[in-house]
Amino acid sequence: MNLPSRADNSIIQPRRLTNRRKLLSIGIHAIGLLPLLQLTVLWVRDSLTANPIQFIEQFFGRAALNLLMAVLAVSPLVTLSGWNALIPHRRTLGLYSFFYFVLHFLTFAVLDYGLNWGEILRLSAEKPFIIFGSLAGLILLVLALTSFEYWMKRLKQNWRRLHKAVYLAGALAVLHYALALKGSLATLSGDISRPLAMGALLTLLLILRLPAVRRRIIFLRHQIKK
Ligand code: HEM
Repeated sequence: MNLPSRADNSIIQPRRLTNRRKLLSIGIHAIGLLPLLQLTVLWVRDSLTANPIQFIEQFFGRAALNLLMAVLAVSPLVTLSGWNALIPHRRTLGLYSFFYFVLHFLTFAVLDYGLNWGEILRLSAEKPFIIFGSLAGLILLVLALTSFEYWMKRLKQNWRRLHKAVYLAGALAVLHYALALKGSLATLSGDISRPLAMGALLTLLLILRLPAVRRRIIFLRHQIKK
């Protein structure tokens, strides 16, 4: 029987690691591309409802927000699991979120409003949810543009500070979502269960990021391992 020698093992180990990394990378891209696939299936099945433009606009908005939440979930997941390999994929998920936001905005500006900027500006002044969405979108744009290594090296410590704005983008996007839906946060009426759930998730993710909470979780994780 041909048992692998020590030397063979040292080849197998990094190979396994590379395969795992590749699988993780494929999984992350699958998560990012899933909404596009889902929408294509709905389109082929002719299931885009009686108002397809509104359906697509809302669909891309939700995809952008879901992926933004996935970005914010990476650090807490690493804290809870110790799975550091997830960290580099934050950027990929962030870029997918930005991609869906661009599609959401294009559907809104081109298909819904036919690039009628006067009408778009009037709507923005009338409806605060558009202002919250625009601020969130602006943050996503800046973060996407500065997500490259060139900016990381140029901005040094400021890069980390700047990229913490992803939490602000998350909060603004949840607010945009809550106000875009028909319902009232004040009276807890209407279709507000999903934005409320998103708000609760965002709060939980922020709590898990607090240094004291993180330290405690890491300590407990090490205790369990022993
Ligand atoms: C320039 C920025 C933005 C504009 C002009 C905009 C516009 C809109 C409009 C008009 C709607 C209502 C659609 C309808 O119900 O007919 C909407 C809904 C929504 N938007 Fe945005 N949006 C912007 C940014 C964002 C961003 C950055 C996100 C998330 C990252 C987002 C996520 C959503 C979500 C989740 C909804 C609700 C979808 C649903 O009803 O299920 N939007 N947006």
